[in-house]
Amino acid sequence: MRERRRHGGGGEAHPASRPRKAAPPSRYWNYIILLAAMCCAAGLGAFAYSTYQGWRLAFRVANLHPAPSVFPPNSSSPDMFWGSYRPQVYFGMKTRSPRSVVTGMMWITQSRSPSLRHTCEQSDGLSQYGWLMHDGVNFGTQEIKDKGYTLKTEFVKRQGGLHGGDWSWRITVTPQASAPPGQLVSLLFYVATDGQGSLFPHVEGKERLTHVTGTSEELGRFTIRFPMPEAGGGHVSYNHLSTMCPGIHVLTDVVRSSLRNNLIHLLSAGDSTTGTKRHYLGLDTYRPPPTPPGSQPAPSNSQLIIHQVTFQLPFQVEVLFESDSFLQRPGPLSGSALSDLLEIHRMKMTERFRRIFKLEEKGFIPDQVAFAQAALSNMLGGMGYFYGSSLVQSLYNPEPLQYPQAPLYTAVPSRSFFPRGFLWDEGFHLLLIARWNTSLAWQSLAHWLDLMNVDGWIPREQILGLEARSKVPNEFVVQRDENANPPTLFLALHQLLAKEDVTSEDLQYLRRAYPRLKTWYNWFNVTQAGRLPNTYRWRGRDKDPFRFLNPKTLTSGLDDYPRASHPSEDERHVDLFCWMALASEVMANISELLGEDGVEYHESQRILTDNTLLDRLHWAEKLGSYADYGNHTKNVALEWERLSPLPGQDPHRLPPPKLVRVVKKPPRLQFVDSLGYVSLFPFFLQILTPDSPKLGQLLAHLRDADKLWTPYGLRSLSKSSPLYMKRNTEHDAPYWRGPIWINMNYLAVRALHKYSHTEGPHRHQAALLYRELRENLLSNLYRQYKDTGFLWEQYNDKTGWGQGSFPFTGWSSLVVLMMAEEY
Ligand SMILES: *[C@@H]1O[C@H](CO)[C@@H](O)[C@H](O)[C@H]1NC(C)=O
Ligand SMILES: *[C@@H]1O[C@H](CO)[C@@H](O)[C@H](O)[C@H]1NC(C)=O
Ligand SMILES: *[C@@H]1O[C@H](CO)[C@@H](O)[C@H](O)[C@H]1NC(C)=O
Ligand SMILES: *[C@@H]1O[C@H](CO)[C@@H](O)[C@H](O)[C@H]1NC(C)=O
Repeated sequence: MRERRRHGGGGEAHPASRPRKAAPPSRYWNYIILLAAMCCAAGLGAFAYSTYQGWRLAFRVANLHPAPSVFPPNSSSPDMFWGSYRPQVYFGMKTRSPRSVVTGMMWITQSRSPSLRHTCEQSDGLSQYGWLMHDGVNFGTQEIKDKGYTLKTEFVKRQGGLHGGDWSWRITVTPQASAPPGQLVSLLFYVATDGQGSLFPHVEGKERLTHVTGTSEELGRFTIRFPMPEAGGGHVSYNHLSTMCPGIHVLTDVVRSSLRNNLIHLLSAGDSTTGTKRHYLGLDTYRPPPTPPGSQPAPSNSQLIIHQVTFQLPFQVEVLFESDSFLQRPGPLSGSALSDLLEIHRMKMTERFRRIFKLEEKGFIPDQVAFAQAALSNMLGGMGYFYGSSLVQSLYNPEPLQYPQAPLYTAVPSRSFFPRGFLWDEGFHLLLIARWNTSLAWQSLAHWLDLMNVDGWIPREQILGLEARSKVPNEFVVQRDENANPPTLFLALHQLLAKEDVTSEDLQYLRRAYPRLKTWYNWFNVTQAGRLPNTYRWRGRDKDPFRFLNPKTLTSGLDDYPRASHPSEDERHVDLFCWMALASEVMANISELLGEDGVEYHESQRILTDNTLLDRLHWAEKLGSYADYGNHTKNVALEWERLSPLPGQDPHRLPPPKLVRVVKKPPRLQFVDSLGYVSLFPFFLQILTPDSPKLGQLLAHLRDADKLWTPYGLRSLSKSSPLYMKRNTEHDAPYWRGPIWINMNYLAVRALHKYSHTEGPHRHQAALLYRELRENLLSNLYRQYKDTGFLWEQYNDKTGWGQGSFPFTGWSSLVVLMMAEEY
């Protein structure tokens, strides 16, 4: 799920009030034993025991799984230590460690209405930004188009020494052809500590910061250099700031409140004696905002140093990070040495990309290859490293608890709108990441599995650290342990293991992961079980029946996709049934690889892939398709509630009317009449046998333009469905009720590819549809990217236009695999 609406809310909203820290269980044991002994003496043992049970349950949700980590601490290779692991900012780097020194860049357009850019924001209105190349390990090249000029931000790393080596940045700012001459721009390079380490500024003359020296636990001693820039446009002006501040989540505010008016002398072209003076905003001193009376000032535990350069375009500037432990440095990584190293990595990536995806052989033109390369690069450049703890709550907690602090190396769905980890998105991300570099995919997978609690639950949205939390509305912060999210990590495992040579390293990894995978599987199998044997039901549906046209099922990932109109324990969900069939098969295979007893998984796999059972539980004859089952009526509508004043009440003082759901015909137990993505899951996850007559019926729906087919991909809900493109409340526009989503279309294309390569009566039809659907998706995604500069969260089913959040280079980047026909 990714709840994107800020108003809609949900039945699951819980105020994030006063989190409490879960104490380690051992301390409680001691405490309890002591307490129990005392109570026993007083004859109150039974009472103590029941209190203890209550406490034990209350803290259970925040107890991590006891198995050793899948990703042991210190097992990361040094070449992965530094990286662009801050996808939420336009440009920045940090290390993969809990309290990393962070570095980054902000910039200011120095015009009459100056604008400060730092974190990726849709409201900045940039016409394009993103990585053109990024190999996930060594280097990246990004292009950012602001109003009137373009910034190219590049970084490259060089290994040496004991702490992850050196890196250099190069920022090139060029005016756009249509822009007026004489644009004035400031770049602000910052380095900040996060609770540990120290920094020393070195200033030349009055204002020019030449370098910063520093030291931290994980970096040892280091130097960050700001060499004299190459200015094409005349005079350069410098400012700097060195201060303490409350933390890296407030850096933008600190800068904003430190800016004052300055003057810069600009030379006129061709004349070095006369010139003009212009005002610009420059760093001065930071004055923390006054704390309201009665409240504590925020502790200032972050040291911050910023170097500001202001210049007329065009302009190029470099920043060098040097680790003091790197003793045999051949020379500074700047100028031509920097250009050469960037070029070496660019060539390596181009070559590797060509070898893995073979797009040229498939007839794609260079511009389309560049598009695919950018899509992959944004997935890799969107990988972040987060550290912190989630707020969690179970049925036994009156208030949210803090989950243990943990790291998470993960890709993010969207750098602007969803810059954090999402469980079900990551399973899709890894399909692409694993093609490029399996080691990166294993690392992310390991971190996700290491976030599992003792029961086998993984919080589905990972809001780790204050910086991540500052982007999430309060009502979505707390994660509840009844709630699942599709176990897409099994999709990734399926792919990672679908090769001839499973290496001994893979096996070691699997052996470490196995106890957690077993618990994870079991958590789904038990907590999400339906009432009837072998049926499954998503928990956590919206509870308020009057608010929503159809109560949402955020946990399924498909937020507002229509399910039974009246949530009840009789429900069974066909998508979850299919996810469990896939999970059983992957677990059966892994058990076999490891020589473990997998009898139960084989048995569950046999049962869940038995199409007779599937048809009995989920085939809705009237709909001609698979469906959910539950207490349902299609005769519902949103209507303005009619408010009449109570006797004596002023009719002008009534609260504003609301849209409420009206049920026109009572619900009864039946199949849910929604034709769409959920109906296709037995096909998506290839549970259907190739000779199933149902397959032919699904393919017919899929190709029907009055149902699911569009020239741009498959829409999420059939045009013939009662809730097609219907709002769920006044504030909730349709989300999974028509728009085209790329993760599901990827599954469709992949399934068509599979069925077209397997003997069966529908093979020919599958092959035709495969070619057509793939072509529709590729041409629209490419066209939209050329037109708008971005990949999008979803695509309009009538026009093909990108919509929702952007850039969305999470699962929409699966376009690369469809181009390469890698499934
Ligand atoms: C894959 O990632 C690892 C880091 O985990 C790195 O050492 C290796 O060089 C990468 N491989 C390629 C081909 O980029
Ligand atoms: C399980 O293993 C079989 C046999 O190697 C293979 O054909 C199948 O694709 C595997 N399935 C999954 C889901 O990994
Ligand atoms: C899943 O749950 C069912 C019903 O409780 C049980 O029969 C089955 O053995 C379980 N599957 C596995 C692999 O544990
Ligand atoms: C279906 O929902 C209605 C309305 O909440 C309820 O009255 C009825 O008992 C439910 N039927 C079943 C079989 O659960």
